Amino acid sequence: MLRIVVCVSGGGTNLQAVLDAIDAGKITNAQVAAVISNSAGAKALQRARDHHIPGILMSPKEYSDREAYNEAFTAQMAGLNPDLIVLAGFLVRIPPQMVQRFPDRIINIHPSLIPSFCGVGYYGLKVHEKVLERGVKVTGATVHFVNEGMDEGPIIAQKAVYIEENDTPELLQRRVMEQAEWVLLPQAIDDIANGRLEIVDGHVRHRESRV
Ligand code: GAR
Repeated sequence: MLRIVVCVSGGGTNLQAVLDAIDAGKITNAQVAAVISNSAGAKALQRARDHHIPGILMSPKEYSDREAYNEAFTAQMAGLNPDLIVLAGFLVRIPPQMVQRFPDRIINIHPSLIPSFCGVGYYGLKVHEKVLERGVKVTGATVHFVNEGMDEGPIIAQKAVYIEENDTPELLQRRVMEQAEWVLLPQAIDDIANGRLEIVDGHVRHRESRV
């Protein structure tokens, strides 16, 4: 049974998609052991508690400096003994020591087709604002392994979403979530939980077809 810790910052709709997929049997061999948030007000923490999953607050604001936070966050994570760490809308940079401690065991969902519209400053609604500003016709979402770079680790899966006339950042964000994020993230977790993914020469390979 894959032991998952989910890290969140806000609404937690991706967390909800994962919990729903586990409840529905779409993700097998996996359980969410804990949810960590950097923000006390995150609705995601309530979603965790509603599911009888411990919700843990780890805010950088409570530490003297970033290094102290990084050490405490990594120690907290290690204490939870996760097989997989899922960043589901987590807007704090993952400490390098955590990446080293959990190699190929941290995944992230990002609301664009990486390497477009990603990296420093591209998170949440801002991604969709910049997509519309640039006038691209296709966007989407990406699930990838996390390395020490920003949105740079091996890509697990991507799904395209078309821009529509009269899109606003909010409308587009919702469509990218519905059509791509809430599909890709549970699928990636199920693939990892059931040994269907491997990393070969820095690239993710699917061991077998999912259909
Ligand atoms: C999601 O769209 C997720 O892809 C994005 O934040 C949102 C969180 O929503 N993540 C990033 O931008 C990471 N760079 P949620 O809390 O409702 O799942």
